[in-house]
Amino acid sequence: MDDRRPWWRTAVVHEVYLRSFADGNGDGLGDVPGLRERLPYLAGLGVDALWVTPWYPSPMADGGYDVSDYRDVDPRFGTLDDVDALLADAHALGLRVVVDLVANHTSAEHPWFRAALAGGPGAPERSRYLFRDGRDGGAAPPNDWISAFGGPAWTRVTEPDGRPGQWYLHLFAPEQPDLDWTSPEVQEEFDDVVRFWLDRGVDGIRVDAAPAMAKVPGLPDAGHPPGATFASSEWVGNPHWDVDEVHEVFRRWRRIGDTYDGDRLFVSEAVVNGPERLARYVRPDELHTTFNFDYLKAPWDAGALRRVVDGTLAALAPVGAPATWVLSSHDETRHVTRFGRAHSGAAVMGFDAAGPADLALGLRRARAAALLTLALPGGAYLYQGEELGLPEVEDLPADALQDPTWERSGRTARGRDGCRVPLPWSGERPPFGFAPDGVAPWLPQPEGWRALTVAAQDADPSSTLSLYRAALRLRRELLGEQPLSWLDLGDGVLAFSRGPGFRCVVNLSDRAVPLDGLGRVLLASGDASAGLPPDTAAWLAP
Ligand code: GLC
Repeated sequence: MDDRRPWWRTAVVHEVYLRSFADGNGDGLGDVPGLRERLPYLAGLGVDALWVTPWYPSPMADGGYDVSDYRDVDPRFGTLDDVDALLADAHALGLRVVVDLVANHTSAEHPWFRAALAGGPGAPERSRYLFRDGRDGGAAPPNDWISAFGGPAWTRVTEPDGRPGQWYLHLFAPEQPDLDWTSPEVQEEFDDVVRFWLDRGVDGIRVDAAPAMAKVPGLPDAGHPPGATFASSEWVGNPHWDVDEVHEVFRRWRRIGDTYDGDRLFVSEAVVNGPERLARYVRPDELHTTFNFDYLKAPWDAGALRRVVDGTLAALAPVGAPATWVLSSHDETRHVTRFGRAHSGAAVMGFDAAGPADLALGLRRARAAALLTLALPGGAYLYQGEELGLPEVEDLPADALQDPTWERSGRTARGRDGCRVPLPWSGERPPFGFAPDGVAPWLPQPEGWRALTVAAQDADPSSTLSLYRAALRLRRELLGEQPLSWLDLGDGVLAFSRGPGFRCVVNLSDRAVPLDGLGRVLLASGDASAGLPPDTAAWLAP
């Protein structure tokens, strides 16, 4: 591998959903000191970097994606000193750290939004957000835009004089008012926030909800049908998503990032319509990489996956950006469960139609998918717990649910809590080492997770954890930036080589696939003596 290429071109990044990773202070909520203690686990797993979800002061209306102060740490998560110590320890272990920047919206408790409310209509403080008069004499929202969590994207305020007044835009929860990114004050504030974290030594920034940050001037109707849900991967010419002006924001940040040493990374979360629109986020003067949601959403189907892989690589080649491959995150149903369902594709934001899942089948496919993901050219994102083969927790009691999707969908979509259940580290019963014994985690863990703890899987060579460790080690040894060449092993089989010394074969058909030629170095599951069985995968090397 050419070590002069920036690290992020081939990095495996582990997503740390901070609230659910490890609780260091015994309040049932994960935090920075808890993460810091567990860094050796991540180094031992073999990932290159971690992306940590927001740790900023927040009322937690959306699990920390509602930020009230961009330059501090919520006391529930720790302190700035804890973050400095985390960065130092991570770097000493060879791990890079990517932070989450939520710049489309602030919390409704942010001083700017409070000032905007207090200032009343026409106050300059309102120009940092998107306040508008309602239609129909003020009683109806200014347009038909919708929230990603369900329902309208507008909320009406009570003015300082006590009367119902203007409306403000929130593409997510009402507690997350959208900023107006045409405001120079907003632009300058976030230039400074970006510098604040880069100065502190973070290796990268994940750009939350990147396509949301620009809106078509005049805020025209989107033409959403009544009851529409947020289908951003299908929208064309939508006035509140993936609007071309959004790229100016990224160019601004890239200019700042380029003044720092150390190959700092910007990666966007962008669910947009197809790989060509996505490639625009990673043009040479914009962000470096972007999550590949088409891959995440693809069903367990060889044709569909191959189309996504080919479409991604073809769209990114002209802009010179590496692909990223991702199967799960804190926003979607865990893929062990998805791959066990008849409809195995993903929806986002917890709007999946739940259905019966064959979890043994789902796990077998998930293990095969891990080998596919880690063999593809580019980088990969792993979501905490996927290396343990955790399924979605689908039976959380309704009164435990915290994701705004649950209430905003009129309690029809259970939302994202089922993929956010705190990690099981060790022991026979909850909290499974996530928190001190006797402390209840913020979401209840299933009793059955005793078999899935890190401790239970650690020494078992057939465990999912052992498979991930082996795959990550081999990936470092065998794979760099070699391009992919498809091999034809018949219908329902994804097979490719990466240079002369590596092959990956994934069997999505219902027959065994003969393997010959190169030696087998890793098998996702089962016994391949009579060919590669269905729903498994193998890596081969000389
Ligand atoms: C992103 C985050 C998600 C959050 C939303 C609003 O999609 O991943 O968790 O709810 O942005 O900030």
